[in-house]
Amino acid sequence: MKLASMKGQNIISFCLLILVGAASSQPQHVNCPFLYLYHFGDGFTDVGNSIYVPSRTPNPAARLPYATDFGLPHLAPYLNMNASETYDGVIFSVARSPVLDISFFQSRGIKIPPYAAVPLSAQVRWFKNYLTSTFRTPKERANRMENSFLFLGDIEGNDIGYALAQGKSIEEVRTYAPLIIQAQIRIARELIRMGATRLIIPGNAPLGCFPYILTAMPSKNSTDYDELGCLKSVNDLIISKNDYLQQAIRNLTLEFPNIIINYGAIYDGAYEVIRDASYGPNGELALVSCCGTGGNYNYDSKKFCGSPQVPVCRYPNQYIFWDGIHFTHHAYSRMETILIEPALRTLGCTRYVNSTTSNLRASV
Ligand SMILES: *[C@@H]1O[C@H](CO)[C@@H](O)[C@H](O)[C@H]1NC(C)=O
Ligand SMILES: *[C@@H]1O[C@H](CO)[C@@H](O)[C@H](O)[C@H]1NC(C)=O
Ligand SMILES: *[C@@H]1O[C@H](CO)[C@@H](O)[C@H](O)[C@H]1NC(C)=O
Ligand SMILES: *[C@@H]1O[C@H](CO)[C@@H](O)[C@H](O)[C@H]1NC(C)=O
Repeated sequence: MKLASMKGQNIISFCLLILVGAASSQPQHVNCPFLYLYHFGDGFTDVGNSIYVPSRTPNPAARLPYATDFGLPHLAPYLNMNASETYDGVIFSVARSPVLDISFFQSRGIKIPPYAAVPLSAQVRWFKNYLTSTFRTPKERANRMENSFLFLGDIEGNDIGYALAQGKSIEEVRTYAPLIIQAQIRIARELIRMGATRLIIPGNAPLGCFPYILTAMPSKNSTDYDELGCLKSVNDLIISKNDYLQQAIRNLTLEFPNIIINYGAIYDGAYEVIRDASYGPNGELALVSCCGTGGNYNYDSKKFCGSPQVPVCRYPNQYIFWDGIHFTHHAYSRMETILIEPALRTLGCTRYVNSTTSNLRASV
């Protein structure tokens, strides 16, 4: 497999879509008051790092059907940068990574996959190495920070998801939320002190709708599910965690009034996409994994996508979930449509569609 094209079916986020306009069929032009993108997160936005992290256990993302679709121009995974190229952005995200350090989970008896989990603080250490090795002087580094946009997450879904999927109660996991958010805010503050001027912390998608959570927390009581079939208690937990994050972001904004620090409503965008799919022609597939096998949700953690004999669905565009943990391209593309305008606006970008080729003209 060609390394330069290492790009999973699952691993592209709406923010990357915003910046490269990849999901759009119309010719579009985006002018943003920044030039570079740096992203910290998990498998939602990993463009290949996870397969370069040394590991004793094989990583499913290193096997087909991952990495068959496309790569992004001008954006590189940190662990596979080419020193003779220049990039518009570097992705530090690593699939399966949590916010909190591994010791947090160890002390609570929660297992983290033996491959590829690089906590947020370690990703930021990579970023510092990158900055100091790429730019010689403090002035050059400050200039780069000032002209960049930094994205912190989606990532904390893993902190919560690992705990829930391994039997921790909602009540217990609720107590982790402030610790997770405080860690994210500490890191955001550190990046601002390094010169960052624009940050987005997107919060979490509705984990209670994800095949891996639905499979791990089955209930016979139908009142535990909402009208789409998602677990209410899990989504309530995510909503209250996201609310707390928004409060923490507001506080951080008071601390740094000249810095753009935004929440990104990934929950709302993802829930809307799932709801539309549930009421659409393939509604029965809305909570079912495309690549996977077994159970009500076509998901089995022991026979993960990429393992031998695990089938891939014929029409991924009919699905929202790719491998039980990540979304399909189709779902990301739908989310892009829902989230792009607000996100561009908060970043001070303007976008227009060329009216010669389309009668749609949008400006934000
Ligand atoms: C690195 O980039 C240079 C210049 O574009 C190219 O010639 C070379 O093949 C690249 N190396 C790898 C390993 O991709
Ligand atoms: C189902 O859950 C509801 C709400 O928690 C509860 O009132 C009800 O007794 C439960 N039903 C069964 C059959 O356990
Ligand atoms: C935000 O600041 C207020 C006032 O200092 C404080 O009471 C609250 O706990 C803070 N919230 C978070 C989430 O940090
Ligand atoms: C719009 O598209 C047409 C046809 O591709 C092109 O000739 C024109 O230069 C474009 N206009 C702008 C403002 O980009």
